[in-house]
Amino acid sequence: MGDGDLTVVTGGSAGIGLALARRLVRPDGELLLVARGSERLLAAGHELDCETLVADLSTPAGVEILAHRLAQQKRIRLLVNNAGGPFRTPLLEHDADEASRAIDLLYLAMVRVTAAAWPGLFVAHGSIVNVVSVAGTVATGSAPHYAAAKHAAIAWSRGLHVEAAACGIHVLTANPGPVATAAFPHDRLRSHRWLRHAVIDDDRCAESILSALGKRRSESFQPEWWRVAGVAQAIAPGTMARLARRSRERFG
Ligand SMILES: NC(=O)c1ccc[n+]([C@@H]2O[C@H](COP(=O)([O-])OP(=O)(O)OC[C@H]3O[C@@H](n4cnc5c(N)ncnc54)[C@H](OP(=O)(O)O)[C@@H]3O)[C@@H](O)[C@H]2O)c1
Repeated sequence: MGDGDLTVVTGGSAGIGLALARRLVRPDGELLLVARGSERLLAAGHELDCETLVADLSTPAGVEILAHRLAQQKRIRLLVNNAGGPFRTPLLEHDADEASRAIDLLYLAMVRVTAAAWPGLFVAHGSIVNVVSVAGTVATGSAPHYAAAKHAAIAWSRGLHVEAAACGIHVLTANPGPVATAAFPHDRLRSHRWLRHAVIDDDRCAESILSALGKRRSESFQPEWWRVAGVAQAIAPGTMARLARRSRERFG
């Protein structure tokens, strides 16, 4: 059984997860990156000189592969639940399979991986970062299954924060706005004269998440002003719907 303090980053082979991993690698700790595809994962493991594990976390079998590894670790210092991808089927093109794939990866994987890491987190009084999204606080209709799964994830993560505190485990819910990554290029936003300022890069996103973690905050947005989106939709859903429709017509 591993005795060192382990940090686990799911979806650590690219984008926000890799940017976080680059900042979390420490000479006195162990780092484990998990992803579905081996090519980028091996490159990331080579760059950071750390352990890697190929597992499709959208399936119970994939989570089991990770659970088996985590069961061999006495202490887990930090779990970053970050693995995810876009689910862009429009609302009116009903696709029940896409709905369940989104729930499996963006919500259930978080729940299952956290359960597997819990004993090690408990021993180490560790921390959990759940990378959710602004889409967990506001739903515009452009990616309904993504937003629904992220709403589930944020509700669970907020509840976990309350329960985990009693066990000495800190939980941060991180909600990035648009971040330019391979799976989420945000080309249309980035080509707009004003709206391009709403898109940040993965390094800035990772810095902001780790700063919030260092301050032991329960929830953060990247950048912070995205916090108003969910409040605005709760107070003025009609206005938000009109704005979302207009922006969809312009930017797709
Ligand atoms: N970029 C944004 O605008 C944005 C905004 C808010 C929230 N987020 C969230 O941030 C997280 C990271 O997204 P990103 O933008 O950094 O995307 P990314 O660059 O595509 O990175 C996604 C990571 O997750 C891994 N992954 C995808 N499916 C997986 C699966 N089934 N099992 C295990 N690993 C899997 C990917 O590797 P493989 O493909 O090889 O598995 C990759 O390492 C996601 O949860 C996303 O929803 C992103």
